[in-house]
Amino acid sequence: MDGNGRWAQRRGEGRTSGHRAGSRSVRKIVRLCRRIGVEALTLYAFSFQNWNRPDHEVESLMGLLTEFLIEERQAILDNGIRLEAIGELDQLPSTVRAVLDALRAESAHNDDMVLTLALSYGGQEEIARAAQALAREVAAGNLSAEDIDVDALRARIPSISDVGEPDLIIRTSGEQRLSNFLLFGSAYAELYFSSRLWPDFGADDLFAAIASFQGRERRFGLVLERDAKAASR
Ligand code: FPP
Repeated sequence: MDGNGRWAQRRGEGRTSGHRAGSRSVRKIVRLCRRIGVEALTLYAFSFQNWNRPDHEVESLMGLLTEFLIEERQAILDNGIRLEAIGELDQLPSTVRAVLDALRAESAHNDDMVLTLALSYGGQEEIARAAQALAREVAAGNLSAEDIDVDALRARIPSISDVGEPDLIIRTSGEQRLSNFLLFGSAYAELYFSSRLWPDFGADDLFAAIASFQGRERRFGLVLERDAKAASR
């Protein structure tokens, strides 16, 4: 969800105003995804590297996150949404952690959509943690080094062990990189880059991304049956 800062700057406003507008976009897009039947939506709301932003910006993001969790609680519960969170959650302020954990528990039995917030999240950090977990299991004698394969890692990567690997990753604001998002799970994800700044990202932009996804051929490293037949003629 990139471009909040630039959105505010273009209006001569402070970055907090951009994040506030970004938070309104979050609410719109979550509702829309729920309505059109998206089963899993993961939002990169705060990266592990974002802790290095100025204190007041980090505080304002934590405030907006808390506000979101409190104000959207009922809508999340009423709409069958299960709230999840991934990342180094121990680093979050205890106030945020309390509302987050409460809503995760309250919504745990919902199964119409999984909304995962990536908070204090880094894809490299997530892979490193999975490697640590595997190393501990080997050290304890519960696993042999030869058993460490892609499936063993996959089972210990929280961003995909629960909701699976992402089909489509959308990045806004014209930047064309993953910036440490879902690195393991993105192996075969379709990538879509929108030039729209996140606060301006709306229904038309989401539908354009989905239409682009629907027009793509996903091969997962294989040859499509159609092409194999044509080649053998
Ligand atoms: C990147 O834009 C965005 C973020 C670091 C934070 C995303 C947060 C929100 C959308 C609002 C709060 C979240 C929730 C879930 C309610 P940037 O600041 O890097 O923008 P810039 O590249 O234009 O400076």
